[in-house]
Amino acid sequence: MAIITVRNLKKRFNLEAGFFARFGRFVYAVNDVSFTIGKNETYGLVGESGCGKTTTARLLVRMYEADEGDIFFKDDTDVRSLRRGALRQYRQKVKYVFQDPARSLNPRMSIAEVLLSGYRASGSWPRGGEKKAREEAAAILEEVGLAPSDLEKRPAEFSGGQRQRISIARGLLMRPDLLICDEVVSALDVSIQGQILNLLQDIRARHDLSFLFIAHNLKVACYFCDRIGVMYKGKIMEEDDAIHLYKTALHPYTRLLFSTVSAAGREPADRTVTADNLEADDTGTGGTGCAFAVRCPLADARCVAEDPPLRQAAQTAAQNTGGEQGGGRPHIVRCFKV
Ligand SMILES: Nc1ncnc2c1ncn2[C@@H]1O[C@H](COP(=O)(O)OP(=O)(O)O)[C@@H](O)[C@H]1O
Ligand SMILES: [Mg+2]
Repeated sequence: MAIITVRNLKKRFNLEAGFFARFGRFVYAVNDVSFTIGKNETYGLVGESGCGKTTTARLLVRMYEADEGDIFFKDDTDVRSLRRGALRQYRQKVKYVFQDPARSLNPRMSIAEVLLSGYRASGSWPRGGEKKAREEAAAILEEVGLAPSDLEKRPAEFSGGQRQRISIARGLLMRPDLLICDEVVSALDVSIQGQILNLLQDIRARHDLSFLFIAHNLKVACYFCDRIGVMYKGKIMEEDDAIHLYKTALHPYTRLLFSTVSAAGREPADRTVTADNLEADDTGTGGTGCAFAVRCPLADARCVAEDPPLRQAAQTAAQNTGGEQGGGRPHIVRCFKV
């Protein structure tokens, strides 16, 4: 059984600037994205800032409404058609941990109120009522490395890393099937990043849980995930099992991500499309050709003229062995040249 299946998902935004608004210019933040997250699987969505990772996550929890495509939860729940009560229930099972814990925790609430907000929003307490819910909250705080006495404190009394632990605890309390972690370590110091990743590893081992792990750092994602989708300008450019991708990356963009992270130790430049840089960077807006062609060392005339489809890569020896042990899902890539 798959926990989440996404098929041909599309979401576009209008470019805000007045001049372009007149011509109805828009950017496809998510442009025909498909992937599946299995039970207990960790799927990584990786790419530079602005490639559409957060938009994809928000579409999954219906913070944004998709323009096209399908989202299925546990194979048979059509997420896009859920209404009111059913949508509320779904949102307890698919929890979103935000990128920035400083802004996602209400400073006026105590940690107890923050954690119990899931129960409040769902409108139902566990058996045993609010008292039982507080006990659960205390237990989950301990699980993420904080103390039950922290329930009475306010978010401002904690460090960035601790606040991220609180956000994760909030996500876990409702016993979700899927935890969406959107750049949960990006805002933290490198030393703290490791601690939070270790915490997520522990949680993964203890709970029956799938993850959508969103990151711009491909090496971190490969370390943490079972399967990786590399995203560029709203499209999946390559997808493979994490252990193979490191050795057998084919797409020039995937290779660039591996090399920039290791060489510079910091994230590649922000490529968010705005009306200002649209002309210099005129892809992702419905133009023809491969979105990556302008930056690609291998690009030729065909890459500029024609958008390559996703196709299955030729099997390597490493994959053949992996396929026997694991799920053996195909390595797919969107490129004419590899
Ligand atoms: N609410 C919004 N309104 C208009 N444009 C948006 C909105 N959210 C995202 N975008 C645009 O969609 C693209 C993808 O953004 P996002 O999903 O946040 O990327 P990522 O999370 O990978 O950094 C960017 O070009 C961004 O400017
Ligand atoms: Mg984002």
